[in-house]
Amino acid sequence: MSGSTEVRVRVRVPAKVNVQLAVGAARADGFHDLANVFLAVGLYDEITVTPSDTLRITCEGPDVSQVPLDGTNLAARAAVALAERHGIDPRVHLHIAKDIPVAGGMAGGSADGAGALLACDTLWKLDSSQAELLDICAELGSDVPFSLLGGAALGVGRGEQLTPIDVGGGFHWVFAIADGGLSTPSVFREFDRLAEGTAVPTPVADPALLAALRTGDAVALASALTNDLQPAALSLRPSLADTLAAGTTAGALASLVSGSGPTTAFLTKDAETAQQVAEALLASGTCRTARVAPAPAPGATVVERSAR
Ligand code: C5P
Repeated sequence: MSGSTEVRVRVRVPAKVNVQLAVGAARADGFHDLANVFLAVGLYDEITVTPSDTLRITCEGPDVSQVPLDGTNLAARAAVALAERHGIDPRVHLHIAKDIPVAGGMAGGSADGAGALLACDTLWKLDSSQAELLDICAELGSDVPFSLLGGAALGVGRGEQLTPIDVGGGFHWVFAIADGGLSTPSVFREFDRLAEGTAVPTPVADPALLAALRTGDAVALASALTNDLQPAALSLRPSLADTLAAGTTAGALASLVSGSGPTTAFLTKDAETAQQVAEALLASGTCRTARVAPAPAPGATVVERSAR
């Protein structure tokens, strides 16, 4: 409808798991060079944007008390960054329906940043190219570009320079969600502390892992999963070892900490096993809740737009 005014746009954005997270030594700017293989998984946040007198944020979901509702929220920062580029006022209400664990190592905050960016771009009819949006995403945070893109990708630099990876089949995951979050900077600091006095190798993507994604081979992927932040997350939260063991005992092909944690991730051979592993994890009492999720999942997607 030409000349119509968008009044409401809703965007769905996936969580991620890092199937390989190779971490290099700390750089002069405090970040770490990574070889970061992202896989988007089917747990989603939804961002709804509507016009408003001022920029404001509301949130619903189980972890709502931990979500900042001020200008520090990545969704607010995304709206401000996009508006600044186009010389407009970011006068919107951003509502976040939050299903991705907060501070869980699954890029939930990054998802909200990418989602708000696409939602505002659509509401304001800016029609930005994907390259322009990815550029703003990279300013917002290392994981935000991948939240926009979805699927699977190798991220280098601090994780924001992406090369998409074709995935040859679906994977079945279970995520055990812990009580309370872990701060990403403190997990990287613990990584640095544990690495003190050792030569940290340059991070490189594992060809066997990339091949497993390309062929959709769950068994090969399971044997290639690695996360260099796992020892740091376990050092800060030793009880995660019990969750990892419970999932493996219940029949997962492999288990690992998701990103900086404390969510733990379990790859299974099929959907039925994923359900069984989720039930066993819940019964083990080693996590707050357990969720099954397929992968790969699409990136940020407009699922509703209303105009008048
Ligand atoms: O980029 P983002 O704001 O998500 O990063 C959060 C924090 O995680 C950084 O301030 C830094 O402490 C750590 N980080 C890092 N190296 C990366 C990505 C993140 O040290 N490649």
